[in-house]
Amino acid sequence: MIRLGVNIDHVATIRQARRALEPDPVHAATLAMLGGADGITIHLREDRRHINDRDVRILRQVVTNLLNLELSVADEIVGIACEVRPDQATLVPERREELTTEGGLDVVMHQAAVAKAMDRLKNAGIAVALFLDPDIRQIEIAKILGAKAVEIQTARYSDARTPSDRTKELASLCEATEFARQQGLHVHMGHGLNYENVRAVAAIPGVEELNIGHSIVSRAVLVGMERAVREMKEAMRG
Ligand code: PXP
Repeated sequence: MIRLGVNIDHVATIRQARRALEPDPVHAATLAMLGGADGITIHLREDRRHINDRDVRILRQVVTNLLNLELSVADEIVGIACEVRPDQATLVPERREELTTEGGLDVVMHQAAVAKAMDRLKNAGIAVALFLDPDIRQIEIAKILGAKAVEIQTARYSDARTPSDRTKELASLCEATEFARQQGLHVHMGHGLNYENVRAVAAIPGVEELNIGHSIVSRAVLVGMERAVREMKEAMRG
């Protein structure tokens, strides 16, 4: 059964809108797990715009299934990850001015920096995934670097506006998955997935984990976190 990692960053975004104490992403994580989340995903950004150091440390205690920490290769953040020891670390690119993670990590261009971060994480006993565009060359390098998994960036599929573009982008996700599996890599996916477009991605053979944030938190604001997660699990099954 494919896993659902619920990304709760935007619960913290609401808290930070008022620099207040609520809503607490720790509470959100508990409710998400009660709703059927197979894991909790958080991104500790260098600018701490949503999740902060306190959240990461408490969530490490509270999340009993799979805590997936998204992070950049920045030394400071990698250091925190090594200390807190999430079950999984997903390396992502990060630019301060972006609204969200916009593309995959370019491991061809930044091979040395990625290798250095991966060594530190692996020495701390953390499984490492690399967030990549659906690009064969990037996946080849991920394999050479010794990644355990790749998270394939689904934004181009999620953003496709016509049926033919959607079909084309889905085919590219299938191809990337097949190639990564042949390399012995675990395959995760995420970005821009919602209750309407998730089914086709969840049905790609070989995909083991989806990380979904914005659409679940948006629904949770209206119907509650447990129900929003339950409904996403149903949407994944179709
Ligand atoms: N996967 C990764 C690597 C991400 O950076 C994000 C966004 O934080 C997500 C998944 C979730 O994306 P969305 O919020 O669009 O569901």
